[in-house]
This record gives sequence, C-alpha cells and structure tokens, in this order.
Amino acid sequence: MAEARGREMREEEVRLSEAEIAVHWKEEALYYPGPKFIGQANLTDPAVTERFSEKNFPECFREYADLLTWDKYWHTTLDTSKAPFWKWFVGGRINVSKNCVDRHLEKHRNKAAILWVPEPEDEPTVVITFQDLYNRVNEMAALLRDHCGLKKGDRVTIHMPMVAELPVTMLACARLGVIHSVVFGGFSGEACGARIVDSASRVLITMDGYYRSGKLLDHKVNADIAVKKAADEGTTVEKVLIWQRHRDKYSSPTPLVAGRDFVVNDLLKTFAGARVEPVSMPAEDPLFLMYTSGSTGKPKGCQHSTGGYLAYVTGTSKYIQDIHTTDVYWCMADIGWITGHSYIVYGPLALAATTVMYEGVPTYPDAGRPWRIAERLGVNIFHTSPTAIRALRKLGPDEPKKYHYSFKCMTTVGEPIEPEAWKWYYDVVGRGEAAITDTWWQTENGGFLCSTKPAIDAMKPGSTGPPMPGIYPIIYDEQGKEIPVGAGKAGNICIRNPWPGMFQTIWGDPDRFVKTYYAKYNKNKTSTDWHDWPYFAGDGAVWAPDGYIRILGRVDDVINVAGHRLGTKEIESACLTVPEVAEAAVVPVVDPEKGRVPEVYIALKPGVKADKAMEEKIGKAVETVIGKIARPRTVRIVPDMPKTRSGKIMRRVLASISNRMDYGDITTLANPEVVEQIRVQVQGAGPVQKQAGPEDIKAFGKDA
Ligand code: PRX
Repeated sequence: MAEARGREMREEEVRLSEAEIAVHWKEEALYYPGPKFIGQANLTDPAVTERFSEKNFPECFREYADLLTWDKYWHTTLDTSKAPFWKWFVGGRINVSKNCVDRHLEKHRNKAAILWVPEPEDEPTVVITFQDLYNRVNEMAALLRDHCGLKKGDRVTIHMPMVAELPVTMLACARLGVIHSVVFGGFSGEACGARIVDSASRVLITMDGYYRSGKLLDHKVNADIAVKKAADEGTTVEKVLIWQRHRDKYSSPTPLVAGRDFVVNDLLKTFAGARVEPVSMPAEDPLFLMYTSGSTGKPKGCQHSTGGYLAYVTGTSKYIQDIHTTDVYWCMADIGWITGHSYIVYGPLALAATTVMYEGVPTYPDAGRPWRIAERLGVNIFHTSPTAIRALRKLGPDEPKKYHYSFKCMTTVGEPIEPEAWKWYYDVVGRGEAAITDTWWQTENGGFLCSTKPAIDAMKPGSTGPPMPGIYPIIYDEQGKEIPVGAGKAGNICIRNPWPGMFQTIWGDPDRFVKTYYAKYNKNKTSTDWHDWPYFAGDGAVWAPDGYIRILGRVDDVINVAGHRLGTKEIESACLTVPEVAEAAVVPVVDPEKGRVPEVYIALKPGVKADKAMEEKIGKAVETVIGKIARPRTVRIVPDMPKTRSGKIMRRVLASISNRMDYGDITTLANPEVVEQIRVQVQGAGPVQKQAGPEDIKAFGKDA
C-alpha cells in the first residue's frame, strides 16, 4: 500500500517537459572563424575571459557601462543588500533615448539609423537617419507628454507591428522615463487587454493595419477588444493612439471612437519641430516591461532596468554581434519579443549602427526575400531563429546562391538548432565565411548568457557555446547537487551570479520573482551574498568537457514554439473558455520546422458531441484569447483523460503518445485502460510506433 502510494506520488511529480523529449545530437566537429572576420572584429583578445573572471566581478562590467554616455557616473557597481533584487550602477543617471539618438548626431547625423522594409515588394524602403530619428522621437515624446499627460514612471502599452514607428514610440517613452510594455503585434486583443490590466496602462498605442503574407490586416480592431477586456477587469484606457500604416490615410475598417481614439499622424502636426529634454533617469529605474509565459496561467511582466540593461545589450551587441557603426545589421526577430528590444532597437542604436526592420513574413512572396533584402541594403550582419532557418531551407535551399550579399557574421537564437540546419546556415547562407554565434538567453535576461565569442572561439553546431564573459553558470540536478563539467549528464542550468542585463522583478509580484527564479537552489533566504542565490533558468542543459554548453529545452510547463514561449496553463485556460470543455491538457510535440508545437487533449462535458466543429471552436478560442501563434496543431477530443488516483491529469502519458514515445508504466493510474484507447486514436491501430525521422528522442536525465 505504502509502496503503491509512493509510486503514485512519483508519477504525479513527473511532467513531461521539453527537455525530456529533447533531441540529442552527437558531438560535432569544430568550425573556425576566418582571418578576414578576425581581422576586423571588435573582440579578439582572449584575455577578456580573465578580465571578466570571478575575481574581477562585479567591476568587470564597468567595461560595458563605459560604452554609454552617463549624465552622472555611478558610485556603486553592484548593490546586493536587498538580495535577490540586485541593483547595478547605483547613483548613476542616464537617458536611453539620448544614448541611442542624440549622442550620435555629431558624427552620424545623416547616416541611416533605421532602414524599414515594407512587406509589399513594390513599396520603397524607408530610410530614417539619426537626424530624422531625433526629430521624430522628440515630436512623439512631446505628444505623449502634452497630449496624454504622461510622465516618468507611467506605463504605456504598445501593440504594434514591425514598423519604424514602433522604435520611435519606444524611444519617445524612454526619453520621458515612461515605462513601455510592448505586446507582440500577433497577440490577440484579449491578450493585449490582459497586459494593459497587469501594467495599469491608461494609454494604448497601436496602428490601423499592417501587411502580413500579402494581406493588409485590420489591427485597430484589436485595440477595441483590448480596451473592452481591460474595462471588464476594471482598468480604464483613457486614450488610444493610432499610427497610420499609410500616411494620411486611415487603413482600417474599424471606426474611431470619438474622444478616446486619436490618429498619431494628425496629432503630430501640432508638435512639428518640438524638442523634449531627455529625463535624466536613475540607472535603476525601469525602462520597460516585457511579458512572458510562465508555469502558471498569468504572463509575467519582466521589469528591465535602464542603466544595467542598456550597458549589457550595448556590450554584447559590440562584442558578440560584432557591430561597428559602419555595419548594416539585420535582426529578423519581431520587436514584440525581447530579441527585438535588445538586438534590433537598443543595442544596435546605442552603437550608432544601421538597424534593418522588415514588416512581413520572411518567405513572402518567396523564400528568396531575405536574401534580396540583404543584397539590396548591403546587410553584413544577420540574426534570426532556427525556425526561420528551417523554413527558408525547406522552401528555398538554393535561394541564397542567387543573390550578391556578404555576411561577416550571423546569429541564431531562441531554440536549439540541429546541426543539419546549422550547416546549411553556415555553408549556404553564410557561404562558409560568416562566423555564427548561437546565443542562449531568455526574456528575463536582457541579453546573451552563452555564446561563442565570434573571433575567439571555435563554433560547434548544436551547442550554444561557453558562457559569456562575466556569466558563471552551474548545472544542478533536481536535488541541488552540482553536475560537473564533462559529466555527460543533463541537469538544470543556473547562473550563479547577477549581471547588469538581468531583469529586476516581476511587475507587481516580487514574491513570484523570488519563488520562480531563486527559491529552488537558494542556500540562505536572508543572505545578502550573491553566491547564495543561483538564478534558475528553467532549461535543461549538458556541459561538455570542452566547456561548451548544449541547451535541451524547457524543464517546466512552458512550450517553446518557434522560439517563442507559451505557457501550457495559458493555453489550457483558453480551451476552458469553451463552455462544453470539461478538461484540457496541453503537451509539447516535436515539429521538424517549429521545434515544438502545442497539441491539446480535451475531455468534453457529459452529453456533448465530439466533432470537427467542436475541435475548430476550441482552436479558435485559443486564437482569440492568446493569438494565432498558440493555436494547437491538433485538438484531440478523448473519452477521458489518463489520471492518477488523486485525480491529476497525466500529461506525461499524453505527451508520450503525441511524440510516439514509450509511455512507460501506467499501472498506478486510476484508469489505465484509457491510455491504449487514446494511443490507438492518435497513432492508429497496430503496435506502438516509434517516431520516424533522423532525430533520436531520448528521455531527459539519461546520459547525453
Ligand atoms: O529554452 C530556451 C530557449 O528559449 C527560451 C527563452 O525564450 P524567450 O524568453 O522567449 O527568449 C527567446 C530569445 C532570447 C530559453 O529558456 N532558447 C533561447 N535561445 C536558445 C534557446 N535554446 C537553445 N539554444 C538557444 N540559443
């Protein structure tokens, strides 16, 4: 009896995570950067590792902070007195907009700051020089201040697509010390509304429409949904500012609401030529919030600082992205995610680089589009995700060969990249010349945590690389025992030390911050010594004998879909908004293109008919509550959920079935017979299938 109970408890604890279905690749040979790249690189001195070693911590990060223009230099590099709420560059004052715009005017006034490429190929590229950017940021800041009454510390939600007006708006906020919360344009109006409520924003900034896959989408409609959702939850949005996709033309069929909605392009006429003094911000004041998914249903508002964040993204942009002012840099991410904040807007602009923005889908109208853009604009640094690389390779494996561009270095981010895709990126996109950095980090981190230093370290396909300068990782097992480098075992990767780009807290929920990221391996709750507070990243990882780290994926209830984090609970709650649904369980499924996709299992209320229409209704509900990106690949309506005797849904069993893995011991379940029924429903009759394909799927925790 006691033994059976023990087994049942263990069953309950085991949830199939991404890392458990991680793909294990064999060790790959090393690739070396070429002399041409090394000859011009910003970081070539291997002594950087020593300079940023623990004995020089935290003062080593002065090197990054000194890349910025400070209004007032700081007196304390790192204050740990309120651990784990670290404070960087205390006493310093700085303005981000001044650092990304004003300070470049003297030398780079008429150099392109932003090159914006519309999706329709017949629309010309828009060039915004640093002088233009200065004008536009000032005018927008004046509008925010004088028309909306916004001031330092206020929050503003921005729900915009990939248009140049988005960084203009962000920099205008930064100029005033207003905290921006950019919500990914592809998220639904409801998801935007929930973020407005959490951040208590009284102003929403949006756009009438934008192009996606050749269609002009109505985006304004989402603002109405967002404002209603916020109102339902007690938050009043006083003003909605709407940018126009086409100058002097309103491009949405959704009407304006008198007194609430304002067309930015009209209002700006009043502010032509306005100048706004940048507000000198304490280094530790927040710059922005970025919401990300967690294990519980509610997204977390990651609060990023002003001075520490900007120092970290500027340093890593210079040394890892190898950005010089003369470079044309293109990161194909969306600014609605952290990659876009750090490595489209803030890092590159702080370095006075030219940053390219593209409105649409990379494969529109065909898989040659990115390479045409690169050729046309002279892009020499390229940054994208494994999902995009897989899609471009699948649809146009030889397209890069048709265009005359030359990349000196390239980045991949967001998910593990399989060596096969890496090699295509290297050989075909990079023509065997561009150095690749595989950068591992998270929304919470502000900037890279692991990556090769492109002119110093060799590249290893499938591995992110060694830790960044000044980042000291450790891999723990579940019990908190260190798994040494080279042990060949996977565990939970943690970072032992604070760093300037690390987020400060979860907006409005400091307890959740401590609980989620520090409680697991904290050695002493009252300690003010950073050594006692390892940061738990939530990823499984293996540390090879050569010091290279391989990331296996999430160990918690988060699914990384195409490099974007989605909480399983979030998707399940969305399914439960359909009144006929009794229970929902979401599991990650390996997908050859997107890395992982969510699949949902549904048990309906008694008497409800399972049919295609019901599946469609559930898929649609997820789209409405979160957005298209979260839509499950398959909705599987099953007769019953496999459950433990205490009533917990066994997602592990469902995930095994979806991934065609062995579902293991199910004898302790309350209803083991349903498992085989579900397996036949999903996999068809016949013996248990093994996932076909080149990838060898093994269980997390086994030897790698
Ligand atoms: O699982 C890791 C994966 O993406 C997660 C973070 O997602 P997000 O906060 O949306 O930020 C994505 C871009 C910074 C991580 O916990 N991940 C990110 N980069 C890599 C990665 N997995 C493997 N290799 C990477 N280079």
